[in-house]
Amino acid sequence: MALWGGRFSSGPAGDVFALSQSIDFDWRLAPYDLRSSLAHLSVLENAKLIEKSDADAIRNVLKEMQVELAEGTLLPSDQDEDVHSALERVMTQKLGPLGGALRAGRSRNDQVATDLRLFSLDHILQLAEFVIALQRAILKKADEYNDAPAPGFTHLQHAQPVLFGHELAKHAHSLDRDLSRIRDWYARTSFSPLGAGALAGSSLELDPEASAKDLGFEGAIENSIDAVSDRDFVAEALFILSMIGIHLSRMGEEWCLWSSTEFGWATLDDAYATGSSIMPQKKNPDIAELARGKAGRLIGNLTSVLAMLKGLPFAYNRDLQEDKEPLFDSIDTLALVLPAFTGMVATTSFDRARMAASASTGFSLATEIADFLVRDGIPFAQAHEAAGKCVHVCEESGRELHELTDAEFNAIHPSLTSGIRKVLSVDGALASRTTFGGTAPKSVESQIARLNSKISISEKWFADKANHFSGMMGQ
Ligand code: ARG
Repeated sequence: MALWGGRFSSGPAGDVFALSQSIDFDWRLAPYDLRSSLAHLSVLENAKLIEKSDADAIRNVLKEMQVELAEGTLLPSDQDEDVHSALERVMTQKLGPLGGALRAGRSRNDQVATDLRLFSLDHILQLAEFVIALQRAILKKADEYNDAPAPGFTHLQHAQPVLFGHELAKHAHSLDRDLSRIRDWYARTSFSPLGAGALAGSSLELDPEASAKDLGFEGAIENSIDAVSDRDFVAEALFILSMIGIHLSRMGEEWCLWSSTEFGWATLDDAYATGSSIMPQKKNPDIAELARGKAGRLIGNLTSVLAMLKGLPFAYNRDLQEDKEPLFDSIDTLALVLPAFTGMVATTSFDRARMAASASTGFSLATEIADFLVRDGIPFAQAHEAAGKCVHVCEESGRELHELTDAEFNAIHPSLTSGIRKVLSVDGALASRTTFGGTAPKSVESQIARLNSKISISEKWFADKANHFSGMMGQ
């Protein structure tokens, strides 16, 4: 059933209908469309634009449709253009002409913008809970390995020793920023377009503030043209989801390296690895690889929406129909990746001995020599030069730094006394990194404690919002 047609002498050509149809992907907005129809109905009823008996009949049918939708018995037909026309078709089948009453003061332009905001808020709140579960898994591992030394890398070359718990905990911080981005996004997105009509508001006595409140939004959007044209919330959501994907991808890259034979640090649980169809010995980190690969798809979804928006005149244009599939796809992608990734992290075990054995190799303690000299009053450039000479002598003679003799140290720089031995150990180097945010055991311990309380705060914030939202949706 088309929602327009009076001024046309024929319906759309078959290929035009096929191009224009969005029911295949926008049907998932149906619960939000029904809910926002209930809010619009109350506004029409309160303004005495619909009689109470009619409003009751419409309300009952909308509620019945909510139940049928949840049970899977309310279905679209391939003749429906989109979710809005499909639901109006069903309402008209159930109510006769009264089924079209809700179109008063409402256009699909404000309707689809409202539905999509509700959908995004609902689903991204759920994704935030998955992100928190991943943070918890990371922190548990960080806590388990917060006494395990490992080499830290820059340029993928041994740099300085770190505690492996510190290495792991860093990922919980990136995810914490993602959660804070979601909170900021929520604050901007939680405004209702309903009541904007096609673009100019309404001559009927609607109450956008009331429907906004009914739908759990913070308020109504202040400009009706902005209300129907704004898709910043879609682009921003896609950026946040891409950023989460990029964080998982970078983390996945580490998991791939660490589980390689060359590193031999990480052992994946059998349930979180896959085999090869030809090489019986293989145990592959496919979850980490898929996370890395899917980041490309998330970025693609973001760029497709940005490109669609660029140059679009403000107000509704049909191009905006292209906002949904990328958003749905990014949400679905992360809903698949995050739980599997969390399981992989939670079940990976690390080889402490192997990590510890390589912590001091590759001259990773050279900075300790330079810092030792700085503490003795030597300017850093000179200290750096002397430490570099120590590395040079070791390289020429095939030794590690701690294998240099007192005489050799002394010959390189007179301030390199036997006290240097105290800092030339991985434990000594780790213990000395006591700055805020550093890798000393005490610093890592307090970092993990702070992260734990941050996560508890996020957990509460997101649980409150999810409760608020499900209360509004009547779940
Ligand atoms: N299916 C459309 C969309 O997703 C709904 C809005 C249609 N509005 C219109 N004026 N044709 O954007």
